[in-house]
Amino acid sequence: MSLIGQDVARAASALRSGGLVGMPTETVYGLAANALDVVAVARIFSAKNRPHFDPLIVHLSDWTEVDRVAQAIPSDAQLLWAKLGPAPLTYVLPKRPEVPDLVTSGLDHVAVRIPQLKLARQLLASAGVPVAAPSANPFGFVSPTTAQHVADQLGDQVDYILDGGACGVGVESTIVAWPEGRAVVLRLGGIPVETLTEILGYEPEVRTSSSKPSAPGMLDAHYAPGKPVRLMDHGVDWSLFSAPEGAQALRFASNGTANALTTHGDCAEGAQRLFAALREFAASDYKELWIELAPEVGLGRAINDRLRRAAHRGED
Ligand code: TXA
Ligand code: MG
Repeated sequence: MSLIGQDVARAASALRSGGLVGMPTETVYGLAANALDVVAVARIFSAKNRPHFDPLIVHLSDWTEVDRVAQAIPSDAQLLWAKLGPAPLTYVLPKRPEVPDLVTSGLDHVAVRIPQLKLARQLLASAGVPVAAPSANPFGFVSPTTAQHVADQLGDQVDYILDGGACGVGVESTIVAWPEGRAVVLRLGGIPVETLTEILGYEPEVRTSSSKPSAPGMLDAHYAPGKPVRLMDHGVDWSLFSAPEGAQALRFASNGTANALTTHGDCAEGAQRLFAALREFAASDYKELWIELAPEVGLGRAINDRLRRAAHRGED
């Protein structure tokens, strides 16, 4: 039986019996397991080589399921769900005791997401259990945006990979929490801050820069392609620049020519292509990447967040 396919029933049954499944979503592929099965969740950590202090997002088929894992839902969260529905947005909510500590790294909050991709919700509904899933990449590496990326990096660790095609959004979900009553963005992602501001009626604080493990998942050296990445300001005059010997230069937009992240400067297109571009660079003979930042608005902020982390030269 082939490892990659479109068999929802097979993927669901693997989840129910404690297996690991590559799960497509609109953002990136997840490495999925039954969130209520501690042994299955432990397999996620060992497959990814992920430190146990980094908690996992719990995926649900619908908001009606949210009471299974969370309680005392803030009214802001209800409002965001009412306006956005299934979306590249993760809600950090007070957890119910049924959620294993391993999923939340002992925090009293659980991150909950209802993906927009219909195939993902079909899988979640068919599995009938809350599903913990980090991005399906070895810890610290670029997130996968196709089923093949998952197979390449974690193929020997998963029981099945459900193929939903290339991810439409391409960067991970925006994470929002309510640590002191008002919404705080913990990770920039597929839902722009501007959209949250419009719905909430106030601008949420963005709190993403910490590299402390206690501000989980915000480790600076994430998304590293393993070779130097250098950032160019958005709008840089490329005619004045020539990449050094052995370096790849990638503009943000370049009238349809090669060597650009987008054809027309659309941030959604840039986000969708970002991780594949980093992966291509990683696999190429280029020694370093010179890449132009996106405009610092909308999805451009999520792109730039990932690029800054890719460019960060941490010791790890
Ligand atoms: O788009 C996404 O969110 C993808 C797809 C698969 O859903 N998932 C994803 O998971 O990006 P992961 O594990 O790569 O990133 C999850 C982030 C981590 O930074 C983690 O620290 C944070 O969510 N997180 C999880 N639970 C949390 C909690 N209770 N409080 C604060 N942050 C939390
Ligand atoms: Mg990740």
